Amino acid sequence: MSSFKTIDDLDVAGKRVLVRLDLNVPMSGGRVTDSTRIDRSLATIRELTSAGAGVLIVSHFGRPKGRVVPEMSLQPVARALAEALGQEVAFATDCIGPEAEKVAEGVSAGDVAMLENLRFYAEEEANDINFAGKLAGLANLYVNDAFSCAHRAHASTEAITRLLPSAAGRLMEAELDALSKALENPKRPVAALVGGAKISSKMTVLGHLVKQVDVLIIGGGMANTFLDAQGVNV
Ligand code: 3PG
Repeated sequence: MSSFKTIDDLDVAGKRVLVRLDLNVPMSGGRVTDSTRIDRSLATIRELTSAGAGVLIVSHFGRPKGRVVPEMSLQPVARALAEALGQEVAFATDCIGPEAEKVAEGVSAGDVAMLENLRFYAEEEANDINFAGKLAGLANLYVNDAFSCAHRAHASTEAITRLLPSAAGRLMEAELDALSKALENPKRPVAALVGGAKISSKMTVLGHLVKQVDVLIIGGGMANTFLDAQGVNV
């Protein structure tokens, strides 16, 4: 049994479920150029709608830093999701307020809708509980399937869990199960390979991992930070 709640622990029939996805997908000229994150989110969405829930999707896109940046709208992503799902995905041009409320109220069992980029509000990254309250007011339950955002405490990933019954989606569940298999009782030696550009957000994770693994391999842009600290000219 998992040490965290999953969709199996929620009674979703007839409920509206706010689903946090990571739909920060690569785009070029207003079109999604790599749909991996969209495709991988389909299982949780379909499971919820088949069980009689209405699904209200929230995500960030890019780093608009609390301002409305039209090029960072999630609308093209909603269109790509509708195509992948094979069903209509209603879109709200705001993630809170009257527009979001109107779209949320239209979400019945089996329906899917998406709200505009959470990071158009600075309160999202500030983990603001009032902002989380406005999101929570749109739904009855909360499911987080955005593992790649789970190292950040933002309003749509942390504060909201204090306001709605919450559970991990299937993607999050698979990632957490894989992590615990690798870290809790592993066959040694264990190596972890960590990549990415942004070391600032991963320092805590690296500090945690380094105590558990035999070898920690740093790749991606953040490897340069370590080389720089060692005096290598990067
Ligand atoms: C990603 O693409 O790495 C995730 O969506 C997280 O994005 P962020 O680093 O801007 O929080």
